[in-house]
Amino acid sequence: MFAVKAERVDKHYKNGVNGKKEVLKNISINIEEGEIFGILGPNGAGKTTLISILSTLTLPDSGKLEIFGIDALSQADRVKSIVNVSSGNPNFPWSLTVYENLRYFSMLYAIKNKDISIKKVIDMLELEPFRNARFDSLSTGTKQRLSLAKALLNEPRLLFLDEPTMGLDPDMAIKIRKQIKRIHEEREITIVLTTHYMKEAEELCGRIAFLKKGEIIANASPTELKRQMKLGESITIEYEGDFDIAGLKNIPGILDTVYSPGMIKIVAENAGPILDNILKIFANVHIKNIDISQPDLEDVFLELAR
Ligand SMILES: Nc1ncnc2c1ncn2[C@@H]1O[C@H](COP(=O)(O)OP(=O)(O)O)[C@@H](O)[C@H]1O
Ligand SMILES: [Mg+2]
Repeated sequence: MFAVKAERVDKHYKNGVNGKKEVLKNISINIEEGEIFGILGPNGAGKTTLISILSTLTLPDSGKLEIFGIDALSQADRVKSIVNVSSGNPNFPWSLTVYENLRYFSMLYAIKNKDISIKKVIDMLELEPFRNARFDSLSTGTKQRLSLAKALLNEPRLLFLDEPTMGLDPDMAIKIRKQIKRIHEEREITIVLTTHYMKEAEELCGRIAFLKKGEIIANASPTELKRQMKLGESITIEYEGDFDIAGLKNIPGILDTVYSPGMIKIVAENAGPILDNILKIFANVHIKNIDISQPDLEDVFLELAR
């Protein structure tokens, strides 16, 4: 069964008096139970709007949506009890402490064993030292951890994370990513997250959908995306001397070469199998350094966002 099955979802917002702004166009996605699925795209692409619709906070104009086989448009209440959303820019009652906030949300969710549930999420997100600190005194990273804790209170089967590491220092972002992985492993839940950090998507997500101006323009695993984009691997050779650049043209599998004096970058479908052939051409030259690098998702993103 799919955790999320969205078909031809459209959404527009009013723009001025008679204007209409298409924010999501014909979105269809299937998200498997248990995966971490990433929604990527530049600012304004529609990521937050899509998450709001998938989590039943916002209604689409048209289309179909099933969450674990439940019709989410006609039975939003049933869906709400098994999903939750955490925002990287959380807005909680500012004068309440960490504990009071969690207590407040556990009442909203009508949770039975409130103390046990609150203790569990405080432990999981390492919030004990901040238990009695007011929301407005917390650092951005702690606020985001509180937001994650709040989202786990109802033990959701499906967790939406909207830019979970937005605006964090690299060390705090690493910590939050680790916690996301732990939550995924320990609770065996499905996670859908939005991000515009490619490294985050690459590290966490099994599959990724790229959203551009409200449309999904790619949907695959990070590795498949790189393959589809034919970005290849690059072999950068620093050398001294002269070599026969024409000889490179006869080697199959080379997609591109970028030459500058003393250095050449060769882009190939697959570096390994042709490395021998390439090095033969450099047999009479002094090689100072060789570097082979995989394309990263950043390259894919730049290519797609154009
Ligand atoms: N409540 C709203 N009313 C009008 N326009 C909105 C509203 N929410 C979002 N938008 C517009 O919809 C587009 C997509 O926004 P959003 O979903 O927040 O994108 P993202 O999360 O990818 O940055 C943006 O152009 C934004 O200005
Ligand atoms: Mg957003």
